[in-house]
This record gives sequence, structure tokens and C-alpha cells, in this order.
Amino acid sequence: MRIVVLKNAQAVAEFAANHIIALLNKKSHSVLGLATGSTPIRLYKQLIQANEQKKVSYKNVTTFNLDEYLGLSGTHLQSYRHFMNHYFFDHIDINKEDTFLPKGITSDPMLACAEYEKKIKEKGGIDIQLLGVGSNGHIGFNEPSSSLASRTRIKALSEDTIAANKRFFAVDEFQPSLSITMGIGTILESREIILLATGSNKAEAIRNTIEGPVAASCPASILQMHQHVMIVIDEEAAQNL
Ligand code: GLP
Repeated sequence: MRIVVLKNAQAVAEFAANHIIALLNKKSHSVLGLATGSTPIRLYKQLIQANEQKKVSYKNVTTFNLDEYLGLSGTHLQSYRHFMNHYFFDHIDINKEDTFLPKGITSDPMLACAEYEKKIKEKGGIDIQLLGVGSNGHIGFNEPSSSLASRTRIKALSEDTIAANKRFFAVDEFQPSLSITMGIGTILESREIILLATGSNKAEAIRNTIEGPVAASCPASILQMHQHVMIVIDEEAAQNL
């Protein structure tokens, strides 16, 4: 594990963006694994800026997102498809047909999970997977107690996660309690992983991720077993190390 501690959230975003851009500029076709949540928004801004300044192109990039709410269509304002379009895809030169997220609306969610796995393989696997981390140590929507070998599947969200994400939903709005998420086993097959965390509310999860035992109680701790992981955090998230 390479641990990079930087002054603040902006420095984290810039560092991660430079790392990703260098990879994209090295390969003729790349597969990026992407994440939602508030943490990567600054990173997406940097990646958009680099595209505008012609420092990078996304024309030959395929993306796979970690997760999606089950029950929300891609046009729903809280869907992760909408999030990705709004914060990233609508502002870059990527072909939208090359951007994949698990299907939020499907008559056969189990089949949709299997097809998602198949699609990742067809595209050659993920070169670099971006991760945030939940304050309970979840990655994607792999909540504590998730199997460390899990594949893309339907996952019930924990009370903690539902509460943490409530802020995005209006008072009377339907908030899903189920998701489709890449499994931990799926994530670990990425050739490289970069996890970002900022702010003191992530300090405990970061300590458990880096210094704790590898355990399903903190799904992110399994990253200790991957050969090519970089954890990029600000000083607040690093305060318990
Ligand atoms: C959600 C997402 C995760 C994300 C986490 C943390 O639950 N499924 O992929 O890492 O939230 O989000 P934030 O960056 O807003 O703290």
C-alpha cells in the first residue's frame, strides 16, 4: 500500500487527477472504474479542466461505476447515472455509450449483475479503480460483513449508509435501501486501485483500512491484500494514523 497524505481536499483531487491523466496518456485505450459520493467531485473537476485544456482525451476511455441504487432510473436526480453525467460525463469528450453503471431499473436484477461482470471482462478488465470510503469502511456499497470474495450483486444498505446519504434526498422523497454494487472480489481484480478520503469523519475508517486487521467489519481493509493500491488522503482523514 502506498499512503499519500496531503494538506487538504484540493491537493488530494489534484494529485489523483495527475495520476489518472498520466495513466490515460500512456495507453491507447483505458478502462476506468469510477465512484460517486462527494469525495471525488473535486477530482472530476480537475479531470474536466484537463480535457478542456487538451491535456487529456477520454475518447478512447471506457468507464464502469461501482454501484447504483436499485429502483432509481438513470434520469432520477439521485441516481448515480445522473450524478456521473452531471459531475463528469456531460463535460468531457467521452462517448456516453462507453460509460457503464449497474442498471437501477431492471426486471431481472440478478441477470443485470451477471451481465455487468461480463461486460467488465469483455472490455479487458479495469485498469484503475477509483474508490471513496464510507465512514463505516464500506467500498462501493459493500457494507461491513460483505463477503471479501463477493461479485456484483444486490446489497441492502446499512442504517448508517442510509442515514449518511439522506442529505441528498428531499424530506418526502423515496430513498432506496437496496443497491447493485460491484463486489469486493470484482474490485480486487482491478489492476490498480486508488482510494480517496478527506475530512475527519473518515479518520476512523482510514485507520481501520490501513492499520486494522483485514476483516469484513471494515471492507476497505481488504485493500491491504492488493499489490497496487494507493490511499490518497488529507491531513484530517490521516489524523488517527
Ligand atoms: C456512497 C457510495 C460510496 C462512497 C461513499 C462515501 O455510499 N456508494 O462509493 O465512497 O458513499 O461518500 P462520500 O464521498 O460522500 O463521503
